[in-house]
Amino acid sequence: MIGNDLSRAADLLRAGEVVAIPTETVYGLAANALDPLAVSKIYAAKERPRFNPLIVHLSLKSNIEDYVSEFPAKAVQLAEAFWPGPMSLLLNKRDVLPEIVTAGLDSVVVRKPAHPIAQQLLEMLDFPLAAPSANPFKQISPTKAEHVERSMGDRIAYILEGGPSVVGLESTILDCRTDNIKALRLGGLSLEQIEKLIGPIELELSKHSNPQAPGQMDQHYSPAKGLYVVDDMEEAIANCKARYSLLLWDDSKAYPNAIEKYYLSRSKDLVEAASNLFEYLHRADEDMSEIIFAERVPNTGLGRAINDRLIRASH
Ligand code: TXA
Ligand code: MG
Repeated sequence: MIGNDLSRAADLLRAGEVVAIPTETVYGLAANALDPLAVSKIYAAKERPRFNPLIVHLSLKSNIEDYVSEFPAKAVQLAEAFWPGPMSLLLNKRDVLPEIVTAGLDSVVVRKPAHPIAQQLLEMLDFPLAAPSANPFKQISPTKAEHVERSMGDRIAYILEGGPSVVGLESTILDCRTDNIKALRLGGLSLEQIEKLIGPIELELSKHSNPQAPGQMDQHYSPAKGLYVVDDMEEAIANCKARYSLLLWDDSKAYPNAIEKYYLSRSKDLVEAASNLFEYLHRADEDMSEIIFAERVPNTGLGRAINDRLIRASH
C-alpha cells in the first residue's frame, strides 16, 4: 500500500519489516541494516540471489566511521562534495554490519541520499537502512511509488510516497578503498563532476556477470518486451514486422507508424533524459507495442550512464 505516513514507515522498520522508500535516484527496498532477519526479507521480496550485497543508507548526522573501518582522504573529499546525493562509496566495513548486508564481503557500499523524505525517515531511526532498488531482480528500477506497487506491492508492507525520483538513475558507485578511485557503476553523478574534483579515475565496469557488482550483469534493468538499441532507426523500423514503440533522443523525424514515441528530452538535456528513462521504459513495456527500439544519447555527462542502462536493458 502507498502512503505518506512517515511514522508508520518508521514503526514498520523498527519492527524488522521491509518498506519501500523514495530516494532521489530510484525507490529503494529498505530494512534495518543492523538486523540480519530484517535484511533477509529484502532478498525474499526481491527474489534476489543471496550473494548480491546491498547499499547502506545513512542519515546526514550519522557518522560514517561507525560503519567503515577506514575513510581515506579522497573518500572524505568526495563525501564532502557530493553528499547528500547520487553517489555511493565502497569502503572497508566494520563488524557492526551483518554479513547478509554485504553478502560476506569485507567491504560495504554506503550512501547519504538527498531525498528529503528519505532523510527525514533516517533521522527518525537509530539504525541505517540497507536498500537495493525496489524492483524484482533484473527488472526495471522504479522511479515512482506506482512502479513499486505494480511489481511488488503484494510482497511488502508499505510504500512511502515521495513523488518521482528526480535523478532517475541509480547512484554512481566508486571504490574508494585506496586513493586510486575506481568507478564500479555509472549513475546519477557524472564522471565529469567527479574528475573535476579529484582528477582522472579508472573505470571498472565489468561487462560480465560479476557477483561483486550485480548491477553490472550484462542483462539488467530489463523490460519484459524485447528492447533493441539501434544505430539507424529508420533502417530498423523498415525491416520490422512487429508493432514497435520508440525511445528517442532525436526529435527531427516523424515515425508515423510507431505505436508510441517517448522523447527522453525534447530540450536535449541529459539530466532531464536521465529522469525520464526508467519511467519511459516502464510505459513502453506496458503500451500496445510488441518491441521497443531505442536510440543512444550523446555519450557525455549522464548520457554515459543512460547508454549503459539502455545496453543492459537490451536483448
Ligand atoms: O541509487 C542507488 O544506488 C539505489 C538507491 C535505492 O539507493 N540503490 C541501488 O541498489 O541501486 P542496488 O542493490 O540495486 O545496486 C547496488 C549495487 C549492486 O550492483 C551491488 O553489487 C553493488 O552495489 N554493491 C553493493 N555492495 C557492494 C560491495 N560490498 N562490493 C561491490 N559491489 C557492491
Ligand atoms: Mg538495482
